[in-house]
Order: sequence, then C-alpha cells, then structure tokens
Amino acid sequence: MSEQTILKVKNLQTQFTSGNKTVNAVNNVSFSLKSKKTLGIVGESGCGKSVTVHSITQLLPPLGKITDGKVTYIKNGNEIELSGLKKQGRQMRSIRGKEIGMIFQDPNTSLNPVYTIGNQIVENILQHEKITKKHAIEKAADMLNSLGIPMAHTRMNDYPHQFSGGMKQRVGIAMAMVSNPSILIADEPTTALDVTIQSQILELMKRIQEDYGTSIIFITHNLGIVANMADELAVMYMGKIVEYGSTRQVLTSPKHPYTEALLQSVPFVGMDKEKRLKSIKGSTPDPSSLPEGCSFASRCEFATEECKVFPNEFHLGDGHHVKCWLYKDKEVSIKKDGKRDKIGN
Ligand SMILES: Nc1ncnc2c1ncn2[C@@H]1O[C@H](COP(=O)(O)OP(=O)(O)O)[C@@H](O)[C@H]1O
Ligand SMILES: [Mg+2]
Repeated sequence: MSEQTILKVKNLQTQFTSGNKTVNAVNNVSFSLKSKKTLGIVGESGCGKSVTVHSITQLLPPLGKITDGKVTYIKNGNEIELSGLKKQGRQMRSIRGKEIGMIFQDPNTSLNPVYTIGNQIVENILQHEKITKKHAIEKAADMLNSLGIPMAHTRMNDYPHQFSGGMKQRVGIAMAMVSNPSILIADEPTTALDVTIQSQILELMKRIQEDYGTSIIFITHNLGIVANMADELAVMYMGKIVEYGSTRQVLTSPKHPYTEALLQSVPFVGMDKEKRLKSIKGSTPDPSSLPEGCSFASRCEFATEECKVFPNEFHLGDGHHVKCWLYKDKEVSIKKDGKRDKIGN
C-alpha cells in the first residue's frame, strides 16, 4: 500500500521585511509529511526551521509574510489549502490546535503562569470539543496520567511554576494531544531539557505516535537526536532544503557537504573515539544579502566557480535528493515503467 501524505508544502517562500532589508527566511521549500511518520527538519540556528512551521500554521511574527507557495493539509482525502485561509479565521483557528498540535522548546510558551495546569488543559479541550466540564476534567487527568504525571487529579490544581522543566514539557505535550491532532509539530522540544529528561520526552513522543497514529514534524539543530526519531530528514541551510531523504540515507550516506559537516560536528553513541568532532568552518552569511549561488559555498571545501549559480535539485534515487553541483552527473531518473535509468556516469 502506498504511503498517504497528510501535509504538502510546495515552493514555500516566507520573507521578513524591515526598512529596505528583506530576508528570505524560507526560500522555495517543498516537502511532504506522510501519515503516521516523522519528518525531521534539521539545521543550524537561524536557518528557517521555525519560520517554516509557523508558515504552515500561519503563526508568523508581524513582519513575516508568506510570499509564495502552497501549504495543503489532507484530511480524509480532502485537500484543504492552509495558505489560502485567513490567519485568524474560524477554519484556521480550528485546524490549529485541533488538527495540528504544537509543542515548543520552551514549555512556558504554551502555558499561562496565572492559571492552574488543569484549568488550561480543560479550557483547551472545551474549545475544541462539545463535552461537559466534568468529562473534560476526566479527559485531562487521563491524558496527564498516560504521559507520566503521577497523581494527575491533584497536580492539576498546581500552577506551571510548581512543575519541573521536564514535567512542564509533558504538560505541553498533553495540551497539544488532548484534541488528538493528526499532526504534531515539535519545535526543538527537548533543547531546554537535561539529557536524561530529553530521552524520556523523545520516548514519550514515539509512544504517542504508536498509540495515536500521529504524524510528526520534529525540528532540531541536533542531528544526533533525529537519528532515533525521524523516518525522513530535511536538512536546511539559509532558508533552503539542501538535502532530503530517508533518515538512513541522510545519516549514513550524506551527500551535501553541509550535511557532512553537520554530521561531523555532533557526537554519536558508539562513535569512534579517535574521531575528533569538527566544527563547521566560517560563519553563516548575512541573510539579508545572500549570494546568488549556493549560500554554503563560502564555507565549502568543494566549492568551484559553478557554485556561483544556485544548484538544481539532483535526484539520487529512492527519494534522496540534494542541491549541490557535485551531483550533477550522478542523477538518476525514475522512468515511467519504474525502471531506473542512470544519467551521466
Ligand atoms: N521575528 C523576526 N523578525 C525578523 N526576522 C526574523 C524573525 N524571525 C525569524 N527571522 C529571520 O528568519 C530566519 C530564520 O529564523 P528561524 O526560523 O527562527 O530559525 P531556526 O532555524 O533557528 O528556527 C532568521 O535567521 C531571521 O533572519
Ligand atoms: Mg527555531
């Protein structure tokens, strides 16, 4: 059976304009999220990961604007163009939260310090479901219990500051999951947590996916984390996806020099102790005056004259593609009859 797509992002472009400066924070980004799968979006801080997902849910900061492209959510076979909906319209507000849940790096983002935990989750349920308050309280407690918060009924009377960081993130996940969304967007959900708590939260997210069949977009700047989480990976650099493929393809056979550099800069369990971690040389260019060509060229040891023109997307087979001129002769095309035909060498 072919895998179903639940979300399609096509040629998305999101800009920030202030004065006479324009930043293409997201530049011609396309991907699809498959049902019940996890797509990881990785890349250094500032590369456009958060802006990408905030464009999907139309939660961009005031200066940000989608200037091109299409975001389509597929619900029971019906396509809903999210990019065509009014930001604060009824349909978008109902999709946000009910169909697409979100958790953030800082759980305080989703929690209000002046209301009890219970109050907030119950409110959230009542916004999306027509059930009694009593039923909503039961539901909230069940969700918290199942996410590893003991004595949930009592703890629902607590305020956010009475919870530890890890517990707050569990509550954040509970808030996102109470309406059983089809898609969960997790934007660096464990970055602010200790390593042991981090792995508990990651395990929790995997269990959620198994129990609820949720499709997940998992954002991180840490390639070490996604190895275990994502089915497919999109590697972003300066607003563009420079490499895309299955997690196995990207991690075991990285193609883009940026992906390779990123991989060499993170420690992996079982990694050869002799192998030194390398930092990526140079720094990211000014996003408001990017070169016309490949934006990684200034830091790339393989850069040539050719890189002054932005590379095409080269398809290497089995869904793996890369935007780098090194692969122009290695492209594979999938013929209509399904047989692969090598172009070049
Ligand atoms: N509120 C904002 N105002 C102006 N520019 C912004 C704003 N938020 C993000 N940007 C621009 O978009 C780029 C991508 O940001 P972001 O998606 O938050 O990066 P990250 O990959 O760390 O999540 C930033 O480098 C910045 O140039
Ligand atoms: Mg971010």
